[in-house]
Amino acid sequence: MKKFAIFVVLVLAAAAAGAYAWATRHPAIAPIARPAPASFDKNLVKQGEKLAGFGNCHVCHTKPGGKPFAGGLGLPTPFGTIYTTNITPDVDTGIGGWSEQAFMRAMRDGVDREGRHLYPAFPFDYYTKTSDADLKAIYAYLMTREPVSQKPSANELPFPFNIRLLLAGWTFLFHEPGEFKPDASKDAEWNRGAYLVESLGHCGACHSTRNSFGAAAKSGPGAYAGGSAEGWYVPPLVAATPAPIPWTVKTLVNYLIDGWDGQHGIAAGPMTPVATDLADQKEDDVFAIANYLMSIKGGAKPAAEQDKLAADAVSAAEKLEWGHAQAPAVPNDPVMQKGARVFETQCATCHKAGGKPAPLALTTVVNAPDAGNVVMASFYGIQPPRGVLDRSMPPRATQIADDEMVALATFIRARFSKKPAWTGVEASVRAARAAAH
Ligand code: HEC
Ligand code: HEC
Ligand code: HEC
Repeated sequence: MKKFAIFVVLVLAAAAAGAYAWATRHPAIAPIARPAPASFDKNLVKQGEKLAGFGNCHVCHTKPGGKPFAGGLGLPTPFGTIYTTNITPDVDTGIGGWSEQAFMRAMRDGVDREGRHLYPAFPFDYYTKTSDADLKAIYAYLMTREPVSQKPSANELPFPFNIRLLLAGWTFLFHEPGEFKPDASKDAEWNRGAYLVESLGHCGACHSTRNSFGAAAKSGPGAYAGGSAEGWYVPPLVAATPAPIPWTVKTLVNYLIDGWDGQHGIAAGPMTPVATDLADQKEDDVFAIANYLMSIKGGAKPAAEQDKLAADAVSAAEKLEWGHAQAPAVPNDPVMQKGARVFETQCATCHKAGGKPAPLALTTVVNAPDAGNVVMASFYGIQPPRGVLDRSMPPRATQIADDEMVALATFIRARFSKKPAWTGVEASVRAARAAAH
């Protein structure tokens, strides 16, 4: 870690020096008197509400039990904990004194009103692609919220990550500011979907790989190739997904709007608030997103082939469910026997033949490269997205000991997936225990 830190410092310091002239082109923007809420057009405010929802602003800028948009949520990053700021229009502790120009600069360039660089835990590297019109609507919405006086908490970042000046180097190296540019060779729906995914939707902030500086891949093989978020494995959105049944526009729309699809299961963990917010968006927009995702997946299979694949996978998955007449016997191996016992007592009341949840073998998490999400779901349960509130799963962190969880995950993988056994299950269990919940 120490060597890594020194490396990061040296490279960033070099970049910072080179970028100095560039970085200092962001002077402070003078504060303004808070604009009267009545000065904003009502329709613009309404539009802004939808867009802010789509950008998940409230998800990060609200702490548990706190007032909406008043900030204070700690975001764990590999570099330390970064706290979100107060984006209510309070003049002293929020953005009440920010002009529209200052707000737009923050969203586009990742620089605050005073000209200080912001940490990319704030996904401005995606928001930068948002259109002027959409940013103005979000500004109108935020400036008409109730001002909340709440000082932002100090970040918990060790040296050298606490030096904001180094962010000038980061921004110089990795940030490409500027509005989304439509691709003239594609149709309007494709461009709408691309715009939503790559700007406010900031899907790649979780679904793309990041380099050792924490910068998400915007193009090339790392883009939408999967990543991690808040201790959860994030599946790829490109073709190489572990989902046993290939996605289609229809199943994607179900998953994105309802947060659940019968051939794939639920949007759990950090995907839950994304699906909850998508439920409020226009259906046409979600279809545009699904179409765009299908294009980065390389297109759909012919309908007949897709239907056969899905039917076979569903029928095979159902036969693996607990208690099914054709279910395989539990192998005569102490770990499998132990895992199966835990499954029977803790999980099989719901995850059984004819049970309510989608068959486990169909889920991405059971077929994922590591045990992380199965362990996170087992320990902390599932609070479902708004579209499927009847699909919750209770937390079991106190009922399941670490060695039992290792056996359970090992059993689940062997029973429900054709993929090779997971390695590092103990590490996944330790990491899940350490995750704050
Ligand atoms: C993934 C979490 C996340 C999301 C989603 C998010 N933000 Fe932030 N935002 C942050 C963090 C973290 C900071 C503080 C960065 C720092 O201190 O350098 C921040 C800072 C800001 C700032 C600068 C405020 C200041 O006082 O310096 C603005 C403005 C802002 N966000 C607006 C938004 C808007 C508008 C949205 C929705 C479109 C949004 N944010 C969504 C994490 C997020
Ligand atoms: C805060 C992080 C985060 C953001 C932002 C995010 N996702 Fe996800 N997404 C996840 C996680 C985590 C999962 C895995 C959920 C699970 O295991 O149940 C997931 C799963 C998915 C899946 C299922 C993939 C599969 O093969 O099983 C799709 C599709 C998806 N997300 C689409 C999107 C789209 C579209 C956006 C942007 C509008 C988006 N996500 C934004 C974290 C995120
Ligand atoms: C009270 C019922 C209930 C119990 C008990 C339960 N689950 Fe679930 N589980 C659900 C529901 C509901 C879902 C949502 C998926 C669905 O409905 O298709 C779910 C989803 C899951 C998922 C998929 C998560 C994802 O990200 O897609 C996994 C894995 C899982 N459960 C494992 C377990 C394990 C392991 C246990 C035992 C430790 C367990 N469950 C106990 C009801 C339950």
